[in-house]
Amino acid sequence: MPTATDDLGSIFADAGAFTDPDGWHAAAQRIRAEAPILRVTEPGIPDFWAITKHADVMEVERNADVFTNAPVTVVGQPVPADASEEPPVKTLIQMDGDEHKANRGIVNDWFKPGNVKQMQERVDELAKHYVDQMEALGGRCDFVNDVALHFPLQVILSLLGLPEEDFGRMLQLTQELFGAEDPDIARMAEDESQISVLLDFVSYFTSLTADRRAHPTADLASVIANAEIGGEPLSDMQTLGHYLIIATAGHDTTSNAIGGGLVGLLQQPEQLERLRANPELIDHAADEIIRWVSPVKHFMRTCREPFSLRDVTFEPGDLLYLSYASANRDDELFADPMHLDVTRENAASHIGFGFGRHFCLGAHLARMEVRAIYRELLGRLDHIELDGEPTWIRAAFVQGPKSVPVAYRFR
Ligand code: HEM
Repeated sequence: MPTATDDLGSIFADAGAFTDPDGWHAAAQRIRAEAPILRVTEPGIPDFWAITKHADVMEVERNADVFTNAPVTVVGQPVPADASEEPPVKTLIQMDGDEHKANRGIVNDWFKPGNVKQMQERVDELAKHYVDQMEALGGRCDFVNDVALHFPLQVILSLLGLPEEDFGRMLQLTQELFGAEDPDIARMAEDESQISVLLDFVSYFTSLTADRRAHPTADLASVIANAEIGGEPLSDMQTLGHYLIIATAGHDTTSNAIGGGLVGLLQQPEQLERLRANPELIDHAADEIIRWVSPVKHFMRTCREPFSLRDVTFEPGDLLYLSYASANRDDELFADPMHLDVTRENAASHIGFGFGRHFCLGAHLARMEVRAIYRELLGRLDHIELDGEPTWIRAAFVQGPKSVPVAYRFR
């Protein structure tokens, strides 16, 4: 007879379950307590093990040769029948071993703290621009659609060195790729939509590569276009993989952190007041916001050799679902985990950026963005409150609020 916990396993793959964050977290809390490594069997998708505890997610990530990123990275993706089958465009997330090392090496230095610091001025300028825009809207706006969605994308475009007139197109493409499970966002709720979105990316970035090879500049696009592996230039599909991961991973993730963080602060006004009275607290609180929101809900891994964790032995071919969202609310590590606490001492121990070889390349930049926008906003606001119920994106991978109506007064 199935237990209640077995039934709860549907929360991991069901995009709709994420539209009720409190309900989702209540279910995940029970799973952590009753069956922290849960076998999930859902109709129409391959079975998987849900890994829900912080320590266990770390342990799986620490053993990257046993648990590979290829060939299944997100839940529900079919397992390819032919193991040698490769996707047409591969990003860092789909790579393992030496291939991952060589490709990560191309962009790694660019994202190091010393280099990212050079972005500070531009990031602050963009934060000010979007807060100015919010002020100009006159006291009411949708924080997601008017602010949170645009700011991180502008940062990414600046980083890559793309012109501002391409902003709208990039916004649409990244939203459609990552939010494709949400019918309000996707072009069509079918697989072909993903292909047509990808084709748009292909034609855009192929001409970008040609341009930066002919006229190299100091931007990140030039680093990618002119990179070599083993003395050979990258193919169009390889350069595309790099642009694709930076344009997509750098956008919705950070937008969701910023928008979701505001929901948390507005639902716990005493935390908002603390930050407003003391805006420099945001340097620390950025990690707490990322812990609490966990914009990347999961990644998948495939087991390559028998490996035991708790009372389970994974076998080759088993799929593991690393639930960052659950691990970040694990009360074994975080006291009172459902509470967003801007002074939480161990906030930086969250696993919202993953861990190990695939640790988020953009983590320093993402923190810089969260800090910049909140510092600007909270330093200038006299009052802000929810002006209606927030709604949440229907997606099981990268997810956060779809709309956060707010009413506010600037000083
Ligand atoms: C709050 C915002 C962000 C969150 C929550 C986030 C989260 C993550 C997570 C969970 C991973 C996988 C880590 C793992 O498997 O252990 C990842 C990988 C990655 N992220 Fe982020 N990310 C954010 C922002 C960014 C930004 C701003 C960029 C780039 C500009 C970026 C670029 C990447 C890249 C390139 C990878 C792949 C790294 C690899 O596979 O080696 N991310 N991110």
